[in-house]
Amino acid sequence: MDAQRRGLEDVVVGESVISLVGGTTGHLSYRGYDIAEIVAHLGYESTAHLLIRGEPPAEEPPRDFARALAERRALPAEAAAAIDALPTSTPPMDALRTGLSALGTGGFAYPPDEAQGLELIARAPTLLARFDRRRRGEEAIEPTGTGTHVESFLRMLTGRAPDPTRAWALESYFDLVADHGMNASTFALRVVLSTNSDLISGATAALGALKGPLHGGAPQKVLDMLDAVGSADRAEPWVRAALARKIRLMGFGHRAYKVEDPRAELLRGIAERVAAPERFALARRLEEVALDELRRARPDQRLYTNVEFYAGLVLEAVGLPRDLFPPVFAVARTAGWTAHALEQTSRNRLIRPDVEYVGPRDRHLPPTYPERAPAPGPRAA
Ligand code: ACO
Repeated sequence: MDAQRRGLEDVVVGESVISLVGGTTGHLSYRGYDIAEIVAHLGYESTAHLLIRGEPPAEEPPRDFARALAERRALPAEAAAAIDALPTSTPPMDALRTGLSALGTGGFAYPPDEAQGLELIARAPTLLARFDRRRRGEEAIEPTGTGTHVESFLRMLTGRAPDPTRAWALESYFDLVADHGMNASTFALRVVLSTNSDLISGATAALGALKGPLHGGAPQKVLDMLDAVGSADRAEPWVRAALARKIRLMGFGHRAYKVEDPRAELLRGIAERVAAPERFALARRLEEVALDELRRARPDQRLYTNVEFYAGLVLEAVGLPRDLFPPVFAVARTAGWTAHALEQTSRNRLIRPDVEYVGPRDRHLPPTYPERAPAPGPRAA
C-alpha cells in the first residue's frame, strides 16, 4: 500500500459544517466566515461562540457567553491537586494531558453538551498556568471573573495585568488556530467520541495527537532552527546543508495546503508587529531561502510556509517559554474540539476503519510447546 493511502490522504471520512480548509485556494473559514475577517473582528470568545453555536454572537464581546466561560475557570480541587502532584520537570504538554484527564472524574458523561465544552475551554488555561507557575516555584494565581479569556490566561501565567499588544497577539493566534478541519487531533477526538466515550477522553486523545512535531509540536523547533541559523547571511548555507542531510524544515509543508497556509500570512503580519525587528528579519530571510530551496529540491511537492513558522515568533514575542507553545496551541484548539465533539455526537456513527492484512496465514506452533495446564478447579473455602 502506498504512503498516501496509509496516511488516509484525501480520504473523506464524513461531513462537517465547522471549518473549510481550502488546500488549493489557500483559504480557511469557520462556519463560512473567512479567517482574515474573523481575526480582524472577533475576540476568542466570539470565535468559540461561532464555532460551537454556528453563528457569530449578537454582540462583541458576547457578554453571556463570556460570563459562562469566566464562571467555569476555577479548577475543581482534584484537578488542582493532580497538577500539583506532578514533578516540576514534567513537560508542560504532559502536565496538561494529566490535568485534562483529572477534570474528567465523572462530570463529563456522554453525550457532550455545550456546558461541558465550556468547562473544557475555560479550565484548560487554568490548568496550564497553574503548572507553569508551580514549576517556576511561584504560587498559583486563581482565576477571576474579569478580563477576556486570553487576558485571564496571561494574568494567571504572569501575575500581572497583561500588556495590551501581547494580549492582542495571543488572542489573534487563538482565533487562527481554534479549528482546522479534520486534522489529526480532531480526528482522534472524533474517533473517541464515536464510541460513545466522553468529551474529556476525546480531548485527552486529541492532545496526545497534537503533541507530535508533525502536527502541533513544530513552533518551538522553528525557534531552535532560527537560533541554529543565527544570522540572516547564514540562512542560505544552513538551509542547503539541512536539506542535503534530509532534515525537515520546521514550519514548512502541510498535508492539506498545497499553497501558502492562510494562517501563515496572517501570523507573518502579526509577527512583524510584535517580534523584535532583527528576529523578524532573520525569520523572513530564512523563509525566503527555505521556499527557494524547497522549490528547487522538491519541485513536485509544493511545500509552503505553514501556520507553525510565524506562530513560533508570535508566541515568543508574547513572552511564552518554548515548551509552552504546544499546550498553548491545545488550549486554543479546545473551542474547535468542542464544536467537533458536538457535531460528531449529533449524528454519530462508530468510526471503525479497516486494515488490509498482509501477514502470514495458517501457521502452527511447533510441537515443542506443551499444552497449557487445564483451568484450576474451584478454590478451597
Ligand atoms: N522540509 C523538507 N522536506 C519536506 C518537508 C519539510 N518541512 N515537508 C515535507 N517534505 C518532503 C518530505 O521529506 C517528503 O519527501 P519524500 O517523498 O522524499 O519522503 C515529501 O516532502 C512529502 O512529505 P510528506 O511527509 O509525505 O508529506 P505529509 O503531507 O505527510 O507531511 C507535514 C506534512 C508532516 C506537515 C510535513 O510537511 C512536515 O513534516 N513538515 C515539517 C513539520 C511541521 O512544520 N509541522 C507542522 C504542521 S502544521 C500543523 O499540523 C498545525
